[in-house]
Amino acid sequence: MRSLVVLLASAIGALAASIEDCPGYTASNVVEGSGTLMADLSLAGDACDVYGTDLPNLKLLVEYQTETRLHVKIYDAGLDVYQVQEQILPRPSSQNVSSSDAALQFSLVENPFSFSISRSNSGEVLFNTTGSQLVFESQYVYLRTQLPKNPNIYGLGEHSDSFRLPTSNYQRVLWNAESPFIPRDSNLYGSHPVYLDHRGEAGSHGVFLLNSNGMNINLNHTDSGDQSLEYNTIGGVLDFYFLAGPSPSDVSRQYAEVVGLPAMMSYWTFGFHQCKYGYWDVNYAAEVVSNYSAANIPLETLWGDIDYMDLRQDFTTDPERFPLHKMRELVETLHQRAQHYIMMLDPGIHRLANYSTFTRGEEKSAFLKADDGSDYRGVQWAGEVVWPDWIASNTQDWWTDEISLFFDPETGIDIDGAWNDMNEASNFCPNIDCDPAQQAKDGNNPPQPANPPRNNTGRPIPGFPDDFQPQSSAELSSRQTDSGQMKGLPGRDLFTPKYRINNHRGELSDATLYTNITNSDGTSQYDTHNLYGLTMITATRASLLARRPDRRPFVLTRSTFAGAGARAAHWFGDNNSTWSDYRVSIPQLLGFASVHQVPMVGSDVCGFNGVADEKMCARWALLGAFMPFYRNHAGDTAPPQEFYQWDLVATAARKAIDARYRLLDYVYTAMYRAATTGAPIVNPQFFLYPTDANTFGIDTQFFYGDALLVSPVVDDYAEAVTYYLPNDIFYDFWTLEQVRGKGGNVTASNVTWTDIPVHIRGGTILPLRAESANTTTLLRQKDFQVIVAPGVDGKATGSLYLDDGDSLDVGDEKSDISFSWDGTTFKADGTFEYATDVMVEKVVILGDEQTSREGPWSLNEPFEFALNK
Ligand code: NOJ
Repeated sequence: MRSLVVLLASAIGALAASIEDCPGYTASNVVEGSGTLMADLSLAGDACDVYGTDLPNLKLLVEYQTETRLHVKIYDAGLDVYQVQEQILPRPSSQNVSSSDAALQFSLVENPFSFSISRSNSGEVLFNTTGSQLVFESQYVYLRTQLPKNPNIYGLGEHSDSFRLPTSNYQRVLWNAESPFIPRDSNLYGSHPVYLDHRGEAGSHGVFLLNSNGMNINLNHTDSGDQSLEYNTIGGVLDFYFLAGPSPSDVSRQYAEVVGLPAMMSYWTFGFHQCKYGYWDVNYAAEVVSNYSAANIPLETLWGDIDYMDLRQDFTTDPERFPLHKMRELVETLHQRAQHYIMMLDPGIHRLANYSTFTRGEEKSAFLKADDGSDYRGVQWAGEVVWPDWIASNTQDWWTDEISLFFDPETGIDIDGAWNDMNEASNFCPNIDCDPAQQAKDGNNPPQPANPPRNNTGRPIPGFPDDFQPQSSAELSSRQTDSGQMKGLPGRDLFTPKYRINNHRGELSDATLYTNITNSDGTSQYDTHNLYGLTMITATRASLLARRPDRRPFVLTRSTFAGAGARAAHWFGDNNSTWSDYRVSIPQLLGFASVHQVPMVGSDVCGFNGVADEKMCARWALLGAFMPFYRNHAGDTAPPQEFYQWDLVATAARKAIDARYRLLDYVYTAMYRAATTGAPIVNPQFFLYPTDANTFGIDTQFFYGDALLVSPVVDDYAEAVTYYLPNDIFYDFWTLEQVRGKGGNVTASNVTWTDIPVHIRGGTILPLRAESANTTTLLRQKDFQVIVAPGVDGKATGSLYLDDGDSLDVGDEKSDISFSWDGTTFKADGTFEYATDVMVEKVVILGDEQTSREGPWSLNEPFEFALNK
């Protein structure tokens, strides 16, 4: 009998340890104001304490912030639970609209508490938590929404899966991690807890959960087809922004209103970039530049990876391989040739008594502290390192000073941009049992190059020197703060919370900063881990601005969080030189550029890890040319893969860069729209054909801007591609021939290794430079040709944005020119405040028969002409 009781008790215990048995909450004290609703939520029964302690008292806040944005926040009444600092991600203000004017409606069920969001005009339910109880514990928060069958869900990056997410037994894990080989079905370098749900005729909407904690987001359905999306976070609050759309690009724009409009990029950043980890010395780097010239392939920007550093330390140059005077000479030469130079800065700062960047950081208390108040130590390229606490009060000053000093145009290296790598942050200490000093000695990073690099001076590759000097503890005061400040509940297990997220690196602290570290403001890495990269790029951007206040900063980052696009460009990390990763760069592009609002993106062209194949590299050179950020980059153990290494690739690259440069103003105009309105720089097909269900799952094609449909060959070694053309008029970009899309697949055969199918969408007008140039500076002097691609109604529109290409604030000195064609009259109208000598030399009107009108016309004033076709 007794054993039965024990058995029963343990069975009940086991049952209680399941979230299904959690009591949920009851809403009370509901207060409705103009455009707001507030309520108290109290635990509706005995705590279930499945993965922590249930919080008995919560608050609900609903704000009709704009006509298209509804804010719903569920948080702890005591305001102890961590909330993302406003300083890190400022929130949009509420315009407090009346719910009767809003496109979305919030409905509350008080007992058991649940809520739903629906469209005001159609009643379509977009989000509905009915049928499952909210769980809000100290280390676990659970919320589930029902979704329609077979939903079209996009976003929730960073991932390397299909653009339209699988909806059966699929999990997205958000925990930023160094992710070599960009594994599928896995967390990667960045976290973007936002999705776009597209419902065809019923429109698109977006859901952003502003929560930086680690989470598993599950998409699944029952056998009977009940589809759901579940959030399982290990902390933080439920801070939702619902975005009404109704068009997919409306959702993108509305998301930018929340996380910030993308940063406007300089004209030159759209040029072609070359990099490699393993450009062993300054001569080798210079040789790459000259090889590009010799091969007649335009190179805009050369990059310096960690190779340049002395002992792998930021803000130093290796005295023998990259002596400062030679570096200055290199950069000066590049600048004289109107080329650019960008260098890497890693967050791990070498902990060495005679390394002045470190000692100055110490003086400013710029580094993260361990529990005992000493510097928190880990391992990165230089060996034993400390990490900047980007939100500490003096860190920005220290970083700005280091950047200004080392990159001083008069005495240092006059860079044009900064590259922030390893900022997840990546720690070569594999787990919390690591002794950093020992690991730094034993670690096998950085690996020795497989082949002796050219121009090797014979000096051994630096790394993990023995001359480490221990430092004394800096400050020993406790960093805990008072309650009620949204800095994180006390008393949590910050290493191994009971609820496990499926981080591919293992435990939360594996290969990164330990999650028990307290930041200077009292928050902990457990809560802020996913923001480390974002805070680093915020600081780097501010430092570059301090160095050159009038010019647009360029920062490239590996790690991102929501809002990263307002601060930096992003590349997709250490992919492979494989066809599979060539293909996956398209869904990656679509996710970042159209949903996550990080428009300046691209992959390592020809792949980072492994051996690039000639044919694959030719295809990638062509595909990469139609992505906003275009950089060939490879790892140190990979053989050189510059485009000039193979004749075939060189030919493909010349053609690709020629087209890219002629289109540069077209995409620069799209960048301007993104930076000013949030309109996506790249569009999935369904963004432009939202009711054509055939387009919803396509992620092997994309619109570069909103007028050019790119349909690359995607199969391994194939010379044919089957692609989708919506029911619309298109024009072959290369031949300008008209093609009638029928809403079906088209097969192009004999696509040579130097070809990529691209079509102009009917109804658009493209401004093209009449010819390409060796650098973007020279390109800006070329005249334009305008291509009119009439749509089914015989009409077309387009635009051209012009400015000096680099000033942070161009004031009034910009032109925003609208082009239109109504079937007989071509008009260029708009604003013309950017004075230029560049003309429109010709307007070409496509159609059954192509006609053209020779100019020239000035771009300093409106012009028009009529043409009887
Ligand atoms: C990792 C980065 O992802 C890669 O691009 C870079 O070359 C290496 N770190 C070395 O800095």
